[in-house]
Amino acid sequence: MSRKARARSGHKKSGRQLRSQLWFDNPDNPGMTALYLERYLNFGLTPAELRSGKPIIGIAQTGSDLSPCNRHHIELAQRVREGIRTAGGIAFEFPVHPIQETGKRPTAALDRNLAYLGLVEVLYGYPLDGVVLMTGCDKTTPACLMAAATVNIPAIVLSGGPMLNGWWKGERCGSGMAVWKAREELAAGRIDDEDFLNIAAASAPSVGHCNTMGTASTMNALAEALGMSLPGCAAIPAPYRERGQIAYATGVRAVEIVHEDLKPSDILTRKAFENTIVACTAIGGSTNAPVHINAIARHIGVKLGIEDWEKIGYDVPLLVNMQPAGEYLGEEYFRAGGLPAVMHELLKAKRIHGEALTINGKTMAENVKRATSQDEKVIKPYKAPMKQQAGFKVLHGNLFDSAIMKTSVISEDFRHRFLDDPKDPNAFEGRAVVFDGPEDYHHRIDDPALKIDERTLLFIRGAGAIGYPGSAEVVNMQPPAALIKKGITSLPCIGDGRQSGTSGSPSILNASPEAAANGGLALLKTGDRVRIDLNKGTADILISAEELAERRAALQKRGGYKYPPSQTPWQEIQRGMVDQLADGMVLKPAVKYQRVAQT
Ligand code: FES
Ligand code: MG
Repeated sequence: MSRKARARSGHKKSGRQLRSQLWFDNPDNPGMTALYLERYLNFGLTPAELRSGKPIIGIAQTGSDLSPCNRHHIELAQRVREGIRTAGGIAFEFPVHPIQETGKRPTAALDRNLAYLGLVEVLYGYPLDGVVLMTGCDKTTPACLMAAATVNIPAIVLSGGPMLNGWWKGERCGSGMAVWKAREELAAGRIDDEDFLNIAAASAPSVGHCNTMGTASTMNALAEALGMSLPGCAAIPAPYRERGQIAYATGVRAVEIVHEDLKPSDILTRKAFENTIVACTAIGGSTNAPVHINAIARHIGVKLGIEDWEKIGYDVPLLVNMQPAGEYLGEEYFRAGGLPAVMHELLKAKRIHGEALTINGKTMAENVKRATSQDEKVIKPYKAPMKQQAGFKVLHGNLFDSAIMKTSVISEDFRHRFLDDPKDPNAFEGRAVVFDGPEDYHHRIDDPALKIDERTLLFIRGAGAIGYPGSAEVVNMQPPAALIKKGITSLPCIGDGRQSGTSGSPSILNASPEAAANGGLALLKTGDRVRIDLNKGTADILISAEELAERRAALQKRGGYKYPPSQTPWQEIQRGMVDQLADGMVLKPAVKYQRVAQT
């Protein structure tokens, strides 16, 4: 058979040239074809296989010994390969830069954009017709989806799934959460170091990502809400048999979407993003979601702003009774029906666009129409939710242009202390105590000279995308030990960093622009009065416009807000080109490269 005839005959199924043929069966460039072919033959593939028109499917492997949350993907990849092979494809597995939330110093968020860049180059530059994105731990999901959005080859998400439930002394012990709680107990002297470690270990009993509705469970649920994974994929606990089964089905589907030429841009539409914002509120999703979802939107070229999160998501009820907003963990959530059962409720209530297309070729409505909740203690009916208006509030004022607050986690005690004044409901004023970065906070929080009492507002700055490169999860600051001993476990916390998705703290965070970009937080001084008004959505330092202008001029004279020097080349590179948290913390020069596989 001539090369040209072979090139034609190989594409019977899709009726079009596969991308990988440019490498392995390119009649216009036989010299390069031979070169590409010979090295991919040397591990046992045959020329016939590579030239048969079988789609080559990448398996973007995010698991490794450095990434324990995703490590079981190493075994799951075998099931994905079997699916790909059965459907008539060829699997090429390759590593993605590791991002372990609890392992990377100074912060895992620094590496989201690095993993993104690396994956873009791999998807663009190698003979891949489609890709399975192995997602799990917090930033692995957005990094993979951002890259798939930029390159725009057929892509499907395979979540790793949460760990089994953790248990400690007969009670559910959720990963992340348990550590925040135990930290308080340790500070109050009620447990010792050994029990602190035992509690932490009990919260992580098996392979998988955090079993709470933290950033990992949120982002995998939202990948499914976007339509990028098979229905029901996100919630399956990592060790369950269904996890291996859906890995196989995902491999099969990866081949089909190449034949159908179903690309991320067909799925990641404005409607899909709106569905995702609604779903985020209903599941009680992490405050990190707006950062990552806005980043994916920017890379696929869909207009989505931080204000959309309040506009579309605030008024949605919380349906999922899962820690940190509720009581249960991943296993109960899975048994209750996972994301499809949540979307079913939202569809019935006409809160989502049922016509949004998903990766299995069906619409969201078709996927979820029969997915009723199997346990209404865990996934509540829309009409009897955990909480009404459970979305994010977006605040602004002279402190920042935008910051978000997860109102669904405001405790009764907090509400009582700060928000229940009948003369001034939903607003409070207090004296600010300001820390410059997490190290400063740790050194000084117990210093009596700061005069922190139960009405103090704690601020942290220098913790944003530039200041603490990649932005740190530090805004949920614990009060001084002396206050905790008196029973005050939370104070209002405000900052330009993020907080862990497993934290139940009603902080005001992701402030943009950050202090390091000379935002209003850089002008704040300890002792200032600050007013937060949740009705108006404002956050302001209570000083005159003249004094504010004087402080701004003084800041400029000092050469702007000072932050510590970079420790690695990547920190410096990212600091030079990163956008603010409100805008997805993307690399600004990367956004113009869209749908690059087509060019
Ligand atoms: Fe990896 Fe929570 S630390 S998912
Ligand atoms: Mg986190």
